[in-house]
Amino acid sequence: MWTSSDPPSGGCEPPSVVHGPSRPFQSIESQELALREAAFRALVENVSEAIAVFDLDGTVLYANRVMEDLAGPCVGERLDGVARERVHPEDQVALRDAWLAAAAADGLRERTEVRMHAAGRHWAVLEVSIGNRVAEPAIRGMVVTVRDVTEQRQAEQRAQWASRQWQQLSGDAISISDVQGRVLFWNQGSERMFGWTADEMLGRPTRTIPPDRRAERRRHWLAVTRNRTHVSYETERLTKDGRRIPCLVTHSALLGEDGVGGVLTIAKDMSAHRELEEKSKALALMQERERIAMDLHDGIIQSLYAIGLSLGALSLPQSRQQPAAGTLREAARSIDETIDHIRRYISELRSPDDGLQRDAAVAIQAVVEDVQARSPIAIETDYRFSLPLKLPSATVSHLVSIVHEALSNSLRHAEASALFVSLAAERRMVRLVLGDNGKGFSARRSGRRAGDGIGNMRARAKAIQAKLEIVSRPGAGTRVCLALPLEET
Ligand SMILES: Nc1ncnc2c1ncn2[C@@H]1O[C@H](COP(=O)(O)OP(=O)(O)OP(=O)(O)O)[C@@H](O)[C@H]1O
Ligand SMILES: [Mg+2]
Repeated sequence: MWTSSDPPSGGCEPPSVVHGPSRPFQSIESQELALREAAFRALVENVSEAIAVFDLDGTVLYANRVMEDLAGPCVGERLDGVARERVHPEDQVALRDAWLAAAAADGLRERTEVRMHAAGRHWAVLEVSIGNRVAEPAIRGMVVTVRDVTEQRQAEQRAQWASRQWQQLSGDAISISDVQGRVLFWNQGSERMFGWTADEMLGRPTRTIPPDRRAERRRHWLAVTRNRTHVSYETERLTKDGRRIPCLVTHSALLGEDGVGGVLTIAKDMSAHRELEEKSKALALMQERERIAMDLHDGIIQSLYAIGLSLGALSLPQSRQQPAAGTLREAARSIDETIDHIRRYISELRSPDDGLQRDAAVAIQAVVEDVQARSPIAIETDYRFSLPLKLPSATVSHLVSIVHEALSNSLRHAEASALFVSLAAERRMVRLVLGDNGKGFSARRSGRRAGDGIGNMRARAKAIQAKLEIVSRPGAGTRVCLALPLEET
């Protein structure tokens, strides 16, 4: 299959130079030929390339040592057989075509590249050159030279990979300038970010520096070139259409043989980053506002309610002079306490005590006692905990507010004759139940919220990863149940 249908010009005798026996009687012509054959042989044995001579049928007539090192002993083998066995299937057609093209006429030379199992490599990359020297009396065959270019191709592939990576970095604007600041390299990322094409930039000073940033840039540029170092700074750059974009710019000195030869600049567009920063600031602000609103509602407003209730009672006809004085004293004390509370709150806002721990059980009992002190209705308590219940102070604040709101709701809305509080702390869970035997309410109806209290209780429970359940039915009292999982210590 590897022979051409048109016989090539020139003879097709195998070259006697290589394998023919020496002949006893030689004409002058044949002596000269023998000398030329010997010279050819000496030559091919001493070159660094792998050389083989084939007859036109593709049988190896001669192979030099380098070829045998590469392909193993191959004299007498056929090229099509070798190709089938050892050349990469994708490259076999190219090799055959090169052979046929070269075999078509004397003096033709064809080149191709094939991957082949050779020289102990899995796939060596071989550059194959096939020359038709059939008409050359000293050769009379097809001369195939092979060069192992595996390492060269691997190096090229690595370089291509690196250059692709470089281009893919084009999310960032990368440029190189000479020390005078003239742009020598301007990647696609620069084109995309700033709008100027490489053609518009190359050989000229960059046009991306806003006038009010020139001094800053000059300062960094000088520092980099004088100290042979690099510097990063946040700044702004100008686009072709006049927009200013926030950028993180890095200049690095590129060292040549005679010192700094240029400066590599990488500019990263920080717009998205800035936007995200603004959004998270706005979110944090909103959350903080929400927290303050909740705290004002659950703490201060509830205290003022209680004061309002007790003062309101004075207007009832049955109130007499003596209890009124007591109520007024109590109200004044509560107002003082509320003022204290506001002061503590303001100071906590200024310097939050993040990371501190408080005993939740002590804090909860204190609230219950405080509410009891102001309420004519008995609060039955059931405390079951043996551990000190140290929790983060923010968690304790949420718990205290929930207790306060639930008891306050029972006093204000339930028309109950008894309230109850139970607190049980196990190793992994704190369970808190706050209830009354009052008129109850339909949780669904209170979906249209009369106030913020229940919503706040739920938000606080969520903030401390606790489960909150309000069980209430008209006429059957109300229970607010909270389960707070504890981290294992
Ligand atoms: N223990 C309870 N017994 C009867 N009704 C209750 C009880 N707790 C809440 N409610 C009903 O649910 C409504 C919503 O309670 P929520 O605490 O959200 O608001 P509020 O107490 O009316 O106002 P705020 O808490 O903002 O001062 C109350 O107005 C009341 O009708
Ligand atoms: Mg309420």
